[in-house]
Amino acid sequence: MSNNSHISHRSNEEDSLDAAAAIVTGGAKGIGAAIVRKLAASGASVAIIDLDGAAAQTLASEVSGAFALIADVGDYTSLSEAMEAACTRLNGLDILINNAGWDHVKRFADTEPSLWDKLIRINLKGVFNATHLAIPQLVARGGGRIVNVASDAGRVGSSGEAVYAACKGGTIAFTKSIARETARHGIAVNCVCPGPTDTPLLEEIKRDKRAAATMDAIVRATPNRRLAQPAEIAEAVAFFAAAPAHVTGQVLSVSGGLTMAG
Ligand SMILES: NC(=O)c1ccc[n+]([C@@H]2O[C@H](COP(=O)([O-])OP(=O)(O)OC[C@H]3O[C@@H](n4cnc5c(N)ncnc54)[C@H](O)[C@@H]3O)[C@@H](O)[C@H]2O)c1
Repeated sequence: MSNNSHISHRSNEEDSLDAAAAIVTGGAKGIGAAIVRKLAASGASVAIIDLDGAAAQTLASEVSGAFALIADVGDYTSLSEAMEAACTRLNGLDILINNAGWDHVKRFADTEPSLWDKLIRINLKGVFNATHLAIPQLVARGGGRIVNVASDAGRVGSSGEAVYAACKGGTIAFTKSIARETARHGIAVNCVCPGPTDTPLLEEIKRDKRAAATMDAIVRATPNRRLAQPAEIAEAVAFFAAAPAHVTGQVLSVSGGLTMAG
Protein backbone atom coordinates (compact mmCIF):
# COMPACT_ATOMS: atom_id res chain seq x y z
CA MET A 1 0.00 0.00 0.00
CA SER A 2 1.23 3.47 -0.90
CA ASN A 3 2.11 5.83 1.95
CA ASN A 4 1.88 8.76 -0.42
CA SER A 5 -0.82 11.09 0.89
CA HIS A 6 -0.88 13.23 -2.28
CA ILE A 7 -2.69 10.52 -4.26
CA SER A 8 -6.18 10.27 -2.85
CA HIS A 9 -7.92 7.75 -5.15
CA ARG A 10 -10.82 10.07 -5.89
CA SER A 11 -10.14 10.05 -9.56
CA ASN A 12 -13.22 11.90 -10.81
CA GLU A 13 -13.03 14.80 -8.40
CA GLU A 14 -11.33 18.03 -9.37
CA ASP A 15 -9.05 17.90 -6.32
CA SER A 16 -8.13 14.20 -6.65
CA LEU A 17 -4.43 15.11 -7.05
CA ASP A 18 -4.42 17.97 -4.58
CA ALA A 19 -0.82 19.14 -3.99
CA ALA A 20 0.64 16.19 -5.94
CA ALA A 21 3.92 16.86 -7.78
CA ALA A 22 3.95 15.67 -11.38
CA ILE A 23 6.32 15.61 -14.35
CA VAL A 24 4.94 15.23 -17.90
CA THR A 25 7.51 14.56 -20.61
CA GLY A 26 6.60 15.88 -24.04
CA GLY A 27 4.00 17.98 -22.25
CA ALA A 28 4.14 21.02 -24.55
CA LYS A 29 1.80 19.82 -27.30
CA GLY A 30 -0.80 17.25 -28.32
CA ILE A 31 -1.64 14.53 -25.81
CA GLY A 32 1.01 15.75 -23.35
CA ALA A 33 -0.50 19.24 -23.21
CA ALA A 34 -3.94 17.73 -22.51
CA ILE A 35 -2.38 15.66 -19.70
CA VAL A 36 -0.76 18.79 -18.23
CA ARG A 37 -4.14 20.60 -18.28
CA LYS A 38 -5.98 17.63 -16.74
CA LEU A 39 -3.46 17.01 -13.92
CA ALA A 40 -3.29 20.73 -13.09
CA ALA A 41 -7.12 20.92 -13.05
CA SER A 42 -7.07 17.99 -10.60
CA GLY A 43 -4.86 19.97 -8.21
CA ALA A 44 -1.35 18.84 -9.16
CA SER A 45 1.70 21.04 -9.68
CA VAL A 46 3.13 20.05 -13.05
CA ALA A 47 6.60 20.30 -14.59
CA ILE A 48 6.42 20.22 -18.39
CA ILE A 49 9.65 18.74 -19.76
CA ASP A 50 9.91 19.13 -23.53
CA LEU A 51 12.37 19.70 -26.35
CA ASP A 52 10.24 22.59 -27.59
CA GLY A 53 10.91 25.24 -24.94
CA ALA A 54 8.78 27.93 -26.59
CA ALA A 55 5.65 25.74 -26.76
CA ALA A 56 6.26 24.47 -23.21
CA GLN A 57 6.59 28.03 -21.95
CA THR A 58 3.41 29.13 -23.73
CA LEU A 59 1.43 26.28 -22.18
CA ALA A 60 2.91 26.96 -18.72
CA SER A 61 1.78 30.57 -18.96
CA GLU A 62 -1.78 29.39 -19.62
CA VAL A 63 -2.01 26.66 -16.95
CA SER A 64 -1.97 27.62 -13.30
CA GLY A 65 0.43 25.39 -11.36
CA ALA A 66 2.51 24.40 -14.40
CA PHE A 67 6.07 25.37 -15.32
CA ALA A 68 8.36 24.53 -18.23
CA LEU A 69 11.80 22.95 -18.55
CA ILE A 70 13.70 22.07 -21.72
CA ALA A 71 15.28 18.63 -22.16
CA ASP A 72 15.62 15.79 -24.65
CA VAL A 73 14.29 12.61 -23.00
CA GLY A 74 16.77 10.61 -25.07
CA ASP A 75 19.74 12.38 -23.45
CA TYR A 76 20.20 11.01 -19.91
CA THR A 77 22.41 13.90 -18.74
CA SER A 78 20.15 16.68 -20.02
CA LEU A 79 17.03 14.91 -18.70
CA SER A 80 18.71 14.33 -15.34
CA GLU A 81 19.38 18.07 -14.96
CA ALA A 82 15.79 18.95 -15.89
CA MET A 83 14.26 16.33 -13.61
CA GLU A 84 16.45 17.43 -10.71
CA ALA A 85 15.38 21.05 -11.27
CA ALA A 86 11.74 19.93 -11.49
CA CYS A 87 11.90 17.91 -8.26
CA THR A 88 13.60 20.78 -6.43
CA ARG A 89 10.89 23.22 -7.53
CA LEU A 90 8.10 20.67 -6.85
CA ASN A 91 9.65 19.70 -3.52
CA GLY A 92 9.67 16.00 -4.51
CA LEU A 93 7.80 13.85 -7.00
CA ASP A 94 4.56 11.84 -6.87
CA ILE A 95 3.74 11.22 -10.54
CA LEU A 96 5.78 10.69 -13.70
CA ILE A 97 4.00 10.65 -17.06
CA ASN A 98 6.23 9.27 -19.82
CA ASN A 99 4.49 10.81 -22.80
CA ALA A 100 7.23 12.19 -25.11
CA GLY A 101 7.29 10.33 -28.39
CA TRP A 102 8.06 10.66 -32.07
CA ASP A 103 7.27 8.74 -35.25
CA HIS A 104 8.11 8.67 -38.93
CA VAL A 105 5.99 6.42 -41.13
CA LYS A 106 7.87 4.39 -43.75
CA ARG A 107 7.83 0.73 -44.82
CA PHE A 108 10.51 -1.09 -42.77
CA ALA A 109 12.34 -2.34 -45.89
CA ASP A 110 12.84 1.29 -46.98
CA THR A 111 14.24 2.53 -43.66
CA GLU A 112 17.85 3.03 -42.54
CA PRO A 113 19.44 2.14 -39.19
CA SER A 114 19.79 5.87 -38.39
CA LEU A 115 15.96 6.14 -38.31
CA TRP A 116 15.71 3.06 -36.05
CA ASP A 117 18.23 4.66 -33.68
CA LYS A 118 16.26 7.91 -33.47
CA LEU A 119 12.95 6.09 -32.88
CA ILE A 120 14.47 3.87 -30.18
CA ARG A 121 16.27 6.78 -28.52
CA ILE A 122 13.11 8.87 -28.09
CA ASN A 123 10.33 6.29 -27.72
CA LEU A 124 12.07 3.59 -25.69
CA LYS A 125 15.27 4.95 -24.13
CA GLY A 126 13.42 8.15 -23.20
CA VAL A 127 11.07 6.04 -21.07
CA PHE A 128 14.00 4.16 -19.48
CA ASN A 129 15.82 7.43 -18.73
CA ALA A 130 12.91 9.22 -17.05
CA THR A 131 11.82 6.12 -15.12
CA HIS A 132 15.37 5.51 -13.84
CA LEU A 133 15.63 9.12 -12.68
CA ALA A 134 12.15 9.13 -11.09
CA ILE A 135 12.25 5.90 -9.07
CA PRO A 136 14.54 7.20 -6.25
CA GLN A 137 12.33 10.30 -5.92
CA LEU A 138 9.15 8.20 -5.71
CA VAL A 139 10.71 5.78 -3.23
CA ALA A 140 11.75 8.74 -1.04
CA ARG A 141 8.14 9.94 -1.16
CA GLY A 142 6.82 6.56 0.09
CA GLY A 143 5.17 5.69 -3.22
CA GLY A 144 3.89 7.21 -6.44
CA ARG A 145 2.61 6.60 -9.92
CA ILE A 146 4.23 6.16 -13.31
CA VAL A 147 2.01 6.26 -16.39
CA ASN A 148 3.54 5.41 -19.75
CA VAL A 149 1.92 6.56 -22.98
CA ALA A 150 2.55 3.70 -25.42
CA SER A 151 0.34 3.01 -28.46
CA ASP A 152 -2.04 0.42 -29.85
CA ALA A 153 0.72 -0.05 -32.47
CA GLY A 154 2.62 -1.80 -29.66
CA ARG A 155 -0.27 -4.22 -29.06
CA VAL A 156 -1.33 -5.15 -32.59
CA GLY A 157 1.47 -3.85 -34.87
CA SER A 158 1.18 -1.17 -37.54
CA SER A 159 2.26 -1.04 -41.20
CA GLY A 160 4.89 1.66 -41.77
CA GLU A 161 5.59 1.87 -38.06
CA ALA A 162 7.51 -1.36 -37.37
CA VAL A 163 10.28 0.11 -35.20
CA TYR A 164 7.93 2.62 -33.52
CA ALA A 165 5.56 -0.29 -32.76
CA ALA A 166 8.49 -2.33 -31.41
CA CYS A 167 9.37 0.58 -29.10
CA LYS A 168 5.78 0.83 -27.89
CA GLY A 169 5.59 -2.97 -27.41
CA GLY A 170 8.83 -2.62 -25.45
CA THR A 171 7.27 0.14 -23.36
CA ILE A 172 4.36 -2.16 -22.51
CA ALA A 173 6.74 -4.93 -21.39
CA PHE A 174 8.86 -2.38 -19.50
CA THR A 175 5.72 -1.09 -17.72
CA LYS A 176 4.90 -4.58 -16.44
CA SER A 177 8.50 -5.30 -15.33
CA ILE A 178 8.88 -1.99 -13.47
CA ALA A 179 5.45 -2.52 -11.88
CA ARG A 180 6.77 -5.82 -10.49
CA GLU A 181 10.06 -4.30 -9.29
CA THR A 182 8.59 -1.22 -7.58
CA ALA A 183 5.31 -2.48 -6.07
CA ARG A 184 7.00 -3.03 -2.71
CA HIS A 185 7.69 0.73 -2.59
CA GLY A 186 4.05 1.68 -3.18
CA ILE A 187 4.73 2.67 -6.77
CA ALA A 188 2.11 1.74 -9.39
CA VAL A 189 3.15 1.62 -13.05
CA ASN A 190 0.57 1.48 -15.82
CA CYS A 191 0.29 2.12 -19.51
CA VAL A 192 -2.21 3.94 -21.74
CA CYS A 193 -2.33 2.97 -25.42
CA PRO A 194 -3.90 5.65 -27.60
CA GLY A 195 -5.23 4.82 -31.02
CA PRO A 196 -4.96 7.49 -33.74
CA THR A 197 -5.35 10.84 -31.96
CA ASP A 198 -5.82 14.34 -33.33
CA THR A 199 -2.40 15.93 -32.52
CA PRO A 200 0.46 17.75 -34.29
CA LEU A 201 2.27 14.38 -34.58
CA LEU A 202 -0.64 12.85 -36.52
CA GLU A 203 -0.83 15.95 -38.74
CA GLU A 204 2.86 15.53 -39.53
CA ILE A 205 2.44 11.83 -40.32
CA LYS A 206 -0.54 12.55 -42.61
CA ARG A 207 1.58 14.83 -44.82
CA ASP A 208 2.73 11.59 -46.46
CA LYS A 209 -0.04 10.46 -48.85
CA ARG A 210 0.36 6.75 -48.18
CA ALA A 211 0.45 7.30 -44.41
CA ALA A 212 -2.67 9.48 -44.66
CA ALA A 213 -4.48 6.70 -46.56
CA THR A 214 -3.45 4.15 -43.90
CA MET A 215 -4.69 6.43 -41.11
CA ASP A 216 -8.02 6.94 -42.91
CA ALA A 217 -8.39 3.16 -43.28
CA ILE A 218 -7.67 2.71 -39.56
CA VAL A 219 -10.34 5.28 -38.67
CA ARG A 220 -12.85 3.47 -40.96
CA ALA A 221 -12.03 0.22 -39.13
CA THR A 222 -12.57 1.87 -35.73
CA PRO A 223 -16.03 1.17 -34.26
CA ASN A 224 -16.30 4.84 -33.18
CA ARG A 225 -15.19 5.93 -36.71
CA ARG A 226 -13.24 8.98 -35.59
CA LEU A 227 -9.87 10.04 -34.17
CA ALA A 228 -9.44 10.35 -30.41
CA GLN A 229 -9.16 13.83 -28.95
CA PRO A 230 -6.10 14.43 -26.70
CA ALA A 231 -8.38 15.18 -23.72
CA GLU A 232 -9.82 11.66 -23.96
CA ILE A 233 -6.34 10.13 -23.61
CA ALA A 234 -5.60 12.52 -20.74
CA GLU A 235 -8.66 11.23 -18.84
CA ALA A 236 -7.26 7.69 -18.89
CA VAL A 237 -3.81 8.88 -17.85
CA ALA A 238 -5.33 10.87 -14.97
CA PHE A 239 -7.30 7.78 -13.90
CA PHE A 240 -4.06 5.81 -13.45
CA ALA A 241 -2.35 8.81 -11.80
CA ALA A 242 -5.01 8.89 -9.07
CA ALA A 243 -5.87 5.17 -8.89
CA PRO A 244 -5.13 2.95 -5.89
CA ALA A 245 -1.62 1.43 -5.90
CA HIS A 246 -3.25 -2.00 -6.34
CA VAL A 247 -4.00 -0.99 -9.96
CA THR A 248 -0.59 -1.75 -11.43
CA GLY A 249 1.03 -3.37 -14.46
CA GLN A 250 -2.08 -2.68 -16.56
CA VAL A 251 -2.49 -1.64 -20.18
CA LEU A 252 -5.53 0.41 -21.24
CA SER A 253 -6.35 1.17 -24.87
CA VAL A 254 -8.20 4.38 -25.64
CA SER A 255 -8.95 3.85 -29.29
CA GLY A 256 -12.71 3.92 -29.93
CA GLY A 257 -12.87 0.12 -29.89
CA LEU A 258 -10.13 -0.37 -32.52
CA THR A 259 -8.39 -2.86 -30.25
CA MET A 260 -10.16 -4.91 -27.65
CA ALA A 261 -8.27 -7.01 -25.11
CA GLY A 262 -9.36 -10.66 -24.85
N1 LIG B 1 -1.19 11.04 -31.99
C1 LIG B 1 -1.40 9.74 -32.10
O1 LIG B 1 -2.15 9.31 -32.99
C2 LIG B 1 -0.76 8.77 -31.15
C3 LIG B 1 -1.21 7.43 -31.17
C4 LIG B 1 -0.64 6.52 -30.29
C5 LIG B 1 0.34 6.92 -29.41
N2 LIG B 1 0.75 8.22 -29.39
C6 LIG B 1 1.80 8.59 -28.43
O2 LIG B 1 1.35 9.65 -27.62
C7 LIG B 1 2.47 10.43 -27.19
C8 LIG B 1 2.22 11.88 -27.53
O3 LIG B 1 2.07 11.99 -28.95
P1 LIG B 1 1.41 13.25 -29.66
O4 LIG B 1 0.62 12.74 -30.79
O5 LIG B 1 0.80 14.15 -28.67
O6 LIG B 1 2.74 13.91 -30.28
P2 LIG B 1 3.09 15.44 -30.59
O7 LIG B 1 4.22 15.42 -31.56
O8 LIG B 1 1.85 16.15 -30.97
O9 LIG B 1 3.64 15.95 -29.19
C9 LIG B 1 4.78 15.33 -28.64
C10 LIG B 1 5.51 16.26 -27.72
O10 LIG B 1 6.71 15.59 -27.30
C11 LIG B 1 7.81 16.46 -27.49
N3 LIG B 1 9.01 15.67 -27.76
C12 LIG B 1 9.30 14.96 -28.88
N4 LIG B 1 10.51 14.40 -28.77
C13 LIG B 1 10.99 14.75 -27.54
C14 LIG B 1 12.19 14.48 -26.86
N5 LIG B 1 13.16 13.74 -27.42
N6 LIG B 1 12.36 14.99 -25.62
C15 LIG B 1 11.40 15.77 -25.07
N7 LIG B 1 10.25 16.07 -25.68
C16 LIG B 1 10.04 15.56 -26.90
C17 LIG B 1 7.42 17.35 -28.66
O11 LIG B 1 8.16 18.57 -28.66
C18 LIG B 1 5.93 17.56 -28.40
O12 LIG B 1 5.70 18.65 -27.55
C19 LIG B 1 3.68 9.83 -27.90
O13 LIG B 1 4.35 8.95 -27.01
C20 LIG B 1 3.08 9.09 -29.06
O14 LIG B 1 3.91 8.04 -29.50
C21 LIG B 1 0.22 9.17 -30.24
